[in-house]
Amino acid sequence: MTREVLVTGGGTGIGYAIAAAFAANGDKVTITGRRESVLTEAAALLGARAVAFDAADHEAVEAALAELPGRVDVLVNNAGGNTDFLRGDSTELATLAAAWTANFRANVFTAALVTAGLRGRIADGGRIVTLGSIAAHTGAGSYGWAKAAVEAWNADLARIVGPRGITANVVAPGLVVDTEFFHGKLTDERRERLIANTMNKREGRPEDIAEAVTFLASAAAGHITGQVLHVNGGAFISS
Ligand SMILES: NC(=O)c1ccc[n+]([C@@H]2O[C@H](COP(=O)([O-])OP(=O)(O)OC[C@H]3O[C@@H](n4cnc5c(N)ncnc54)[C@H](OP(=O)(O)O)[C@@H]3O)[C@@H](O)[C@H]2O)c1
Repeated sequence: MTREVLVTGGGTGIGYAIAAAFAANGDKVTITGRRESVLTEAAALLGARAVAFDAADHEAVEAALAELPGRVDVLVNNAGGNTDFLRGDSTELATLAAAWTANFRANVFTAALVTAGLRGRIADGGRIVTLGSIAAHTGAGSYGWAKAAVEAWNADLARIVGPRGITANVVAPGLVVDTEFFHGKLTDERRERLIANTMNKREGRPEDIAEAVTFLASAAAGHITGQVLHVNGGAFISS
């Protein structure tokens, strides 16, 4: 049976590579994101459906549900990012509170709202994979805090959906290039430092993450749930 796969944030970067991997496998893929033009272009290349909405906004998610597939075999909560790249650092309290809220919304609300909205449509034996980050363990301020919360949320989710044979796991990348994540703010010095932290001395690529996600979504991974899979060249334990 052809699987129905939904990838949030599937128009760019890691999400696009994940969507491409499922599409190449013959699965029916729906991608989401906020920018309609980015999604339309990506969907045409992928042979996927595109549904534009803000996954951090509960009313927008609610409104989008009618456009989303009636059955979901694989849900990939990939939408997210570090909103501090767009805001900068500040000790001004109102600015700080807004920055922490923004990262929580961008990374936790997006996963929690879409999953809750679709939970009744996820097929028995289905798969939920959510993008975390090495930052949940190494810092990065409100972004790391939000990705740590994703891990805690996922543990509960795995318990809730487990009796239906549905697995819920987190894939936690380290540095991944060729995405919009850094908004052009990745300096050569930082890039070299992050590569030096890996054991295999290279940056991650979107396809590295897609391989891990498609494995966790496969029948072979049916007894793996509630876990965090680190895909970062060993940087998690070497940094
Ligand atoms: N690249 C890295 O080094 C790295 C490392 C660790 C973890 N990650 C995680 O990997 C995931 C993918 O990131 P990426 O590197 O591929 O960056 P990216 O190219 O910026 O992809 C993020 C995608 O999410 C979408 N998105 C963001 N907020 C959204 C919202 N509120 N509602 C709907 N869609 C939203 C974006 O599209 P729109 O802007 O059009 O909405 C975009 O397509 C993220 O969760 C990120 O935190 C990345």
